[in-house]
Amino acid sequence: GAIGKDGYRHYMEKELHEHPLVIGQTLQRMIDPATRRVVLPELPFDLATVPRAVMTACGSAFYAAMVGRYWLEEVARLPVDIDVASEMRYRNPPLTPGSLGLLISQSGETADTLAALRALREKSVHILSVLNVEHSSMARESDVVLGTVAGPEISVASTKAFTAQLTVLACLAIATARSRGVLDPLKEEELVSALLDLPSRTAEIFKQGEAIRNMAKIVAEARDVLYLGRGSLFPIAMEGALKLKEISYIHAEAYAAGEMKHGPISLIDRSVPIVATLPSTALFDKTLSNLQEAKARGGRLLIFTDTEGAERVSKIAEQSVVLPHVHDFVSPILQAIPVQMLAYEVAVLKGTDVDQPRNLAKSVTVE
Ligand code: G6P
Repeated sequence: GAIGKDGYRHYMEKELHEHPLVIGQTLQRMIDPATRRVVLPELPFDLATVPRAVMTACGSAFYAAMVGRYWLEEVARLPVDIDVASEMRYRNPPLTPGSLGLLISQSGETADTLAALRALREKSVHILSVLNVEHSSMARESDVVLGTVAGPEISVASTKAFTAQLTVLACLAIATARSRGVLDPLKEEELVSALLDLPSRTAEIFKQGEAIRNMAKIVAEARDVLYLGRGSLFPIAMEGALKLKEISYIHAEAYAAGEMKHGPISLIDRSVPIVATLPSTALFDKTLSNLQEAKARGGRLLIFTDTEGAERVSKIAEQSVVLPHVHDFVSPILQAIPVQMLAYEVAVLKGTDVDQPRNLAKSVTVE
């Protein structure tokens, strides 16, 4: 039957509020509660011996893949090649047969991703797809499907499916690391605990609605916005910029914070707000000094931080949003939610058609 908005203004707002539930449901599928270990379905290949992984997707799913690359390399020590599907398809990369092809898609129908899947299959690569719609074209053509348990997503701009994709990829990185013998059991317990904390930690984000709406007032006045992040949070800056473009029609660009000095620093003045994702992870100090550089040139800093970073951030930020502190490993999952919420609030202020933005489709079935 038809899915209602349950009193929310838009499907996107409703789906944003489903993040904690969806992350919890996805974890239930991936983690055995008795052993607190990640459990994958039976695979027709061995994660211990795949020589490398190649990841591809489109849109937000591509940013999930970028975070996934960070985890697979950092935690599982598996070399990863990555590209958007419309490029991967024609790149003809040299691949050892038996490599792992990792496809990410909410719909399982995106034409570019499906074409990339077929191009990879021709190279005798094992196909593992992370899909929300488990009865889809991509599901039928994959060797294994890991389901994101996000439920139907109506809003054209993806929200809850994105954090569910990240959750699955984090679990996959843990399982891969274990099978490759590079994760000791104590570390595994630490990472699994961090994941299991997420449903309650992410539920706390919604107390920051007013702070996010205040930030949205500044962003809604801008013509251009710069998003910054580093490491596994750089793809989250990209997700924030994409969401803003998609639904508010404000131009936004994401940059790796350390790269700002090689170009976009010349754009900085009071008219270009800088949205930074800066919780207290290992890269906090480096990113903070990048932001101080931007502030010294007149930049207005709007910063998403956490309880441990809040005091130092408050000294430089024009506005900040203080989120719950979580383990570095899962920080991109939590930090994805407020950047999506910011884009939503800006779009509401601008009065755009939030759920059906112009020129965009939920599932793009043309190349
Ligand atoms: C469209 C949607 C995006 C989505 C992308 C990939 O562009 O507007 O929100 O991220 O397609 O879709 P998929 O179904 O493959 O995840």
